[in-house]
Amino acid sequence: MLYSEKVMDHFQNPRNVGKMEDADGVGEVGNAVCGDIMKIYIKVDNGIITDVKFNTFGCGSAIATSSMATEMIKGKKIEEALELTNKAVVEALDGLPAHKLHCSVLAEEAVKAAVKDYYDKNNIDYDETLFPADCAHCEGCGK
Ligand code: FES
Repeated sequence: MLYSEKVMDHFQNPRNVGKMEDADGVGEVGNAVCGDIMKIYIKVDNGIITDVKFNTFGCGSAIATSSMATEMIKGKKIEEALELTNKAVVEALDGLPAHKLHCSVLAEEAVKAAVKDYYDKNNIDYDETLFPADCAHCEGCGK
């Protein structure tokens, strides 16, 4: 089968879908490969991500990876969310077809953008190099 059971499960029953009115950080990114977009909202309490929501105008793989990514950062320290890589999310989903790997980058980048927004809004100093302007380029997009 092209997609793992976990991918199908998170695609058909995505976790943490929706908007958050009182988010502490919001990240919105676009996928340079396909033009799809993703928005992630985080609620932060004492440095812990207590709630996450996402909305995407994206494909099934983008939905599945975002759903998994939100599950992986919920309850974690904000620094740990920054360490989340698209590869870790793909592994947690038991893999994605090679031509869909680029979809997983959207989730990683949206999480990073939400954390950066949280830092900016709260005047928290951070290392700019943690937020490169270009994506980390998964093997999928070939750049
Ligand atoms: Fe655009 Fe998957 S095809 S995110």
